[in-house]
Amino acid sequence: MTTRYEVRDGVAILTLDNPPVNGLSYALRVAFAEALDKANADAAVKAVVVTGAGKAFSGGADIKEFGSPKAAAEPNLLSLIRACELSSKPVVAAIHSVAMGGGLELALGCHYRVTAPGANIALPEVKLGLIPGAGGTQRLPRVIGVEAALNIIVSGEPVKSEFIASFPGQKLFDKVIEGDLMAGAIAFALERADVRPLPLVRDMKVGHPEADAYFKFALNTVTAMAKNFPAPRKCVEAVQNATRMKFDDGMKAEREIFMNLMFTPECVSLRHLFIAERAASKIPDVPEDTKPRDIKKVGVIGAGTMGGGIAMNFLNAGVPVIVLEMKQEAIDKGFGVIRKNYEAQVAKKKLKQEKLDERMGMLTSTLDYAALADCDLIIEAVFEEIGVKEKVFQALDAVAKPGAILASNTSTLDVNKIASFTKRPQDVVGMHFFSPANVMKLLEVVRGEKTAKDVLATVMAISKKIKKVAVVSGVCDGFIGNRMIEQYGRQGGFLLEEGCTPQQVDKAIEKFGFAMGPFRMGDLAGNDIGWAIRKRRYVEKPNLRYSKTADLLCEMGRFGQKVGKGWYDYQAGKRDAIPNAEVEAMIAKHRETLGVTPRKISDDEIVHRLVFSLVNEAAHILEEGIANKASDIDIVYIYGYGFPVYRGGPMNYANQVGLFNVAQMMKKFQQNPLDDAKFWEPAPLIKKLVAEGKSFV
Ligand code: NAI
Repeated sequence: MTTRYEVRDGVAILTLDNPPVNGLSYALRVAFAEALDKANADAAVKAVVVTGAGKAFSGGADIKEFGSPKAAAEPNLLSLIRACELSSKPVVAAIHSVAMGGGLELALGCHYRVTAPGANIALPEVKLGLIPGAGGTQRLPRVIGVEAALNIIVSGEPVKSEFIASFPGQKLFDKVIEGDLMAGAIAFALERADVRPLPLVRDMKVGHPEADAYFKFALNTVTAMAKNFPAPRKCVEAVQNATRMKFDDGMKAEREIFMNLMFTPECVSLRHLFIAERAASKIPDVPEDTKPRDIKKVGVIGAGTMGGGIAMNFLNAGVPVIVLEMKQEAIDKGFGVIRKNYEAQVAKKKLKQEKLDERMGMLTSTLDYAALADCDLIIEAVFEEIGVKEKVFQALDAVAKPGAILASNTSTLDVNKIASFTKRPQDVVGMHFFSPANVMKLLEVVRGEKTAKDVLATVMAISKKIKKVAVVSGVCDGFIGNRMIEQYGRQGGFLLEEGCTPQQVDKAIEKFGFAMGPFRMGDLAGNDIGWAIRKRRYVEKPNLRYSKTADLLCEMGRFGQKVGKGWYDYQAGKRDAIPNAEVEAMIAKHRETLGVTPRKISDDEIVHRLVFSLVNEAAHILEEGIANKASDIDIVYIYGYGFPVYRGGPMNYANQVGLFNVAQMMKKFQQNPLDDAKFWEPAPLIKKLVAEGKSFV
């Protein structure tokens, strides 16, 4: 039963019970309505208490019903809330923990609310590109005031119940109950059993002494912050409606705004990503109940750029880390960087000094492989050379305990080959972190041919613990993300050859929403890294044409921000990219060498060549089974490559443009003699989907 019913001391207790967070599914709503009727019909019942089983009061809408007709089927949430308001007996919401979205809206429809301290209260709809749709924008301002309510609604962030309870004059909580919440809630309900009229939030007054000025200010602030998202501005509008419309009119307006937002591309993208992120951890042939291995201690080989960041992830999650290096100096240097990172967080008041000490206390080092014998997971982050990896994995094979997971952070090397350096390829896996590894949320989990299922399950579970979003990739050059970015980079180079400046390309794609264009990105990452990769890669693929401009740039010593010059110039201590005449001259000269007359290229062409190059390569990746599903690719690009969130990732964007149109544009790009006609042949998967009138799923 999704809503349990029992009577205790003359009080009916309705317990929402739909794990994991008591999502307000159709079944739950039906059961709730029946239970409420039963309570009202029972003469022995004097009052009703609504509570949630397990770890939540209610997390709101049931995500399994997203987009299905069941989500709105009667009794819908609005009807349920109305039923609570109309109950002839007092209804008390007893909130012991999470009350979010529809869960909070349901509580706001009850006559009273009592809470335990520490409960998370939120209206997170804005994070899905929506506003609260069941009265949240109308009722919350009535109980905690306009400003506090708008902050909660526009941020979507949870706030602790005891903090809200401390607001002067707040009416969200009638009582904060320390100790046994249910006993307290029953006592409270009995106390109010005979009080009439029953208080309704809808009848409470709401206003702001400087309403016009305040809402103007709020709208300006939100507009500046929300840029490409319509929902936050609509939150302001809806809350303002609460101050100037009658309750029912405000509700009607809220509903209209909610429905209009639902079908905006931004909302569709955000909802897609919400589901995609949850789906990413599911691997088709790895059963969900696969038992993960225990990870109590982690070893990291190499204390360089990546090793240090990787170690921090585990320390932050309370997992002890031992780092192995070749020399003590390398350890001192690496640990110095880790400490500095933590100290910067302490200076910004994001971390307490005790936490810094605690984390550094969990970090140890060694120069001797034998010290890794008790590690459950060992992640290698040494130089990107197969010979070095071979030595490291042989050494690990000799000392690691049976069942220990041996992972490589390689970004370009063959994980199957690395696995073959050991006698336990089933325990070897790629864990490809992104730089800076302590910040970037993406983790590509590279599944070798022999990687065991429980190794994958373990790595997916531990990635959650260290707050990463993990996506599984098969073995291929560049895995999912870098294999696609190679095509994007090639297009960037061709655009320069055909007539663009680096800033024109960067500006166009940044206007599309990318955090950074390809040339600013190259300067940040270091142009020499790509140079080294190209030297290796294009020896192996002599027929794959690419623009030599990036090599010429490196020959000029313009490696990027670290040397103060790359595609752009940089002033010390600043990140502003200043166009450079020598770079433009180099590009112009290169065009002359190729015999190319530059042409004016539209922003639209720039954006679509860059983005659809990602899409076409991604379609091949899907066909080859390197990625399990299109939404995984979107997650990789959102969390690892700064793809605009409101466009939902390259595959979602292609779906929104329509695959027929995408294929047409690819065919047009094929006609460009300066581009790569072979590459632009739409991938067979795209052709198939177009023929079937379908999208990527
Ligand atoms: P790095 O040069 O900053 O650090 C490598 C560290 O490994 C150095 O401190 C070195 O002393 C140590 N080392 C080398 N050989 C060793 C050995 N045999 N035993 C113990 N320690 C040894 O390199 P970085 O950038 O941290 O890269 C490490 C790995 O991570 C490479 O495989 C790289 O491809 C990969 N990677 C790098 C990314 C980046 O953006 N830098 C992103 C993703 C992966």
